[in-house]
Amino acid sequence: MLNGKEYRDWINTKLRIGEELLYLSEAECRALPLSDQEIFNLTERALVLYSQNKTDMPAKIALHPIRDTFYHAMPASIEEVSSAGIKWGSCYPENRQQFGIRQANALIIYNDYLSGVPLAVMDGLYITEIRTPCVSFASAKYMAKPHTKTFGMIGCGIQGREHVRIAHHTLTQLEMIYVYDTYEEAADALIKDLQPYTPCKIIKARSIEELVKCSEVIATATIIPETPNPQIKDAWVTKGQTLLLSDCHSLVEDKTVKRADKYTLDSVAQHELLAGYDYYPHGLPKVYAQIGEVCGGQKAGRESDDELIICNNVGMAVEDMMLLRVLFDRALETNAGRKLPL
Ligand SMILES: NC(=O)c1ccc[n+]([C@@H]2O[C@H](COP(=O)([O-])OP(=O)(O)OC[C@H]3O[C@@H](n4cnc5c(N)ncnc54)[C@H](O)[C@@H]3O)[C@@H](O)[C@H]2O)c1
Repeated sequence: MLNGKEYRDWINTKLRIGEELLYLSEAECRALPLSDQEIFNLTERALVLYSQNKTDMPAKIALHPIRDTFYHAMPASIEEVSSAGIKWGSCYPENRQQFGIRQANALIIYNDYLSGVPLAVMDGLYITEIRTPCVSFASAKYMAKPHTKTFGMIGCGIQGREHVRIAHHTLTQLEMIYVYDTYEEAADALIKDLQPYTPCKIIKARSIEELVKCSEVIATATIIPETPNPQIKDAWVTKGQTLLLSDCHSLVEDKTVKRADKYTLDSVAQHELLAGYDYYPHGLPKVYAQIGEVCGGQKAGRESDDELIICNNVGMAVEDMMLLRVLFDRALETNAGRKLPL
């Protein structure tokens, strides 16, 4: 991958830096060539670099205009890939009921690493959709039992669907995937759309209890309310399970996280900030590691089949900026998007 001045010179052969920028819609981002393996490797690399302090990423700046809603400003730069920019994302959990639209929205600005000039304005949803499950499964790669045969997905929206689609890439012995959503149509649509793309049998669980009791690895991607309302009873969670949380502690009881043998975060700084906003009214448990330390080999992953392991990943701008670099390059290479005057 080109870097520094060489990279800037290459960009300049495709886009007049300082005079124009590239606009990429969500559909244009989706059409760019990028393999699942590349997405996974880039995401995992971002986790490792972050935990080695080789990236620049302040904790998210947040707005909470209406109860249970949030906006996050997510800037980051990564020297290794000459990438710098910011994602501006929002989450309005009531959007489906109120407006019939999805809860998450996001735009990204990509800047030239050497001069700071804006290079692109683009959709931020696609990157969020593809990198978040990779963070979960980068966690599972080291924290799940290697012979895991059952996976449960709570929340069958954008994130839940992508988790189910790629689960078998990491959990290679997976046989059954249980899915549950309070909005039953979302679970039905997931099964109809994704069953052809996975070798595992996808089954609609009748309840969260059934899903939790049937699954060795459980992922959650539902909503993040200001006050968590845990629906996974501690009594259902057993030793040996791995919980991959993309929605903070919304669904898990405090006593479950506090009795985990290992509890990891993607970014301690970021979750401390969320704790400041009272997302963790009972406080955070003792943190075993940032997940990038485990991916990078500085800390051990799962050490026995009996460990209960909880990985809480709220998402980081470094993951976005890592993928952004490659998506932007692919867009220039394939003449995708529209050039607009600056
Ligand atoms: N960690 C990260 O990096 C990251 C990134 C993106 C989104 N998220 C979070 O993931 C969650 C899901 O995002 P999305 O874009 O997939 O949203 P979405 O609206 O597309 O899907 C969420 C689904 O969860 C279902 N749901 C809500 N409460 C539930 C419950 N108690 N039990 C079962 N199902 C329930 C909804 O019916 C919906 O189908 C949100 O909380 C979002 O903030 C996290």
